[in-house]
Amino acid sequence: MSTPAILVENVTVHYGEVLALDSASLSLDAARICGLIGMNGSGKSTLFKVIMGMVKPDAGTVLIGGQSPSKARKEGGIGYVPQSEDVDWQFPLSVRDVVMMGRYGHQGFTRRPSKADRAAVDEALDRVELGEFAGRQIGQLSGGQKKRAFVARGIAQGATMMLLDEPFAGVDKRSEATISRLLRELASDGCTILISTHDLHAMPALCDEAVLLMRRVLMHGAPELVLQPENLAMAFGLDVLNRDLPEPDAEPDAEPGSEPESNAARAENRG
Ligand SMILES: Nc1ncnc2c1ncn2[C@@H]1O[C@H](COP(=O)(O)OP(=O)(O)O)[C@@H](O)[C@H]1O
Ligand SMILES: [Mg+2]
Repeated sequence: MSTPAILVENVTVHYGEVLALDSASLSLDAARICGLIGMNGSGKSTLFKVIMGMVKPDAGTVLIGGQSPSKARKEGGIGYVPQSEDVDWQFPLSVRDVVMMGRYGHQGFTRRPSKADRAAVDEALDRVELGEFAGRQIGQLSGGQKKRAFVARGIAQGATMMLLDEPFAGVDKRSEATISRLLRELASDGCTILISTHDLHAMPALCDEAVLLMRRVLMHGAPELVLQPENLAMAFGLDVLNRDLPEPDAEPDAEPGSEPESNAARAENRG
C-alpha cells in the first residue's frame, strides 16, 4: 500500500479544559478531494491546524506524505486557506503580497522575488481571476475574492496539498464556482484537497469522499453515503432528520467587505 497523503492517528487536542479533538483518526490518499463536515465546535479548524503543524496534539500522530507536518510545511507542500476569523484583514498587505508569500520557500534569505517568482504570482492571480485586483489591500476584497487570493497563494507555492477551511462561507456563487473548478483542476494534477464546508448540497459534485467530524471521525466514505440523513443526524443532532439540508448560500457578496450570514451561521441557526 502507498503512503497516505494525510495520516492522522488517534489525535487528541485540548485548549485548556476544552477537548477539541478526541482520538481523531483519518487517512487520506493523494489526489482526492475530501469534504469535512461537522457542526460548529466539532474540531474542523483544529484538525486543519494539527495537519499544518500549527497546533501540537496532546496525543497521537500526524504524518504528511510520511513526514512530520513541520517538515512538510517547510518544504512548501501544504497550501492553507484559513477560515476568515483566523485572518487579520487590516494587515497592510496587497493581494500580490499575499500570493507572493507562497514563494518565500523558493527565495533566498533576502526574500527578493526573482523573475520566476513574479511570473508564478501573476499566473496564480490569473488562474483565480484576480489579476486586476493585484494592487489592492487584501481587506478591500469581497469575501469570495479573499478566498481566491489564498487559493492563489497555494497555487504560486506549488502546493501538493491544499487545506481549505470553510472557503464557501460568506462567498458569492461566482467565487464558489471558480474555487470548485480550480480544486478539480488541482486534484487532477495530483493535489490532495481537504475542504471543510457547510454547503452539503454542493458536496457530491465537488468531493470524492466525505468525513463527518464530531471531535472524532464518525464516518469517512462516499459523499452520498456520508450525507444520508441518519448519518448527518449523528453529527448535527437528531432534528436534522425532520428538516431539509441547509440551503446553500444564495446571496452574492458583491460589496467588498460585506459578509452575508455564512452557511455555518445558517446551519447553526436551524438547530
Ligand atoms: N484557541 C482556542 N482557545 C480555546 N478554545 C478553542 C480555541 N480554538 C478552538 N477552541 C475550541 O475548540 C473547539 C473546537 O473548535 P474548532 O476546531 O474551531 O471547531 P470548528 O472549526 O469545527 O468550529 C470549540 O469548542 C472551540 O471553542
Ligand atoms: Mg472552524
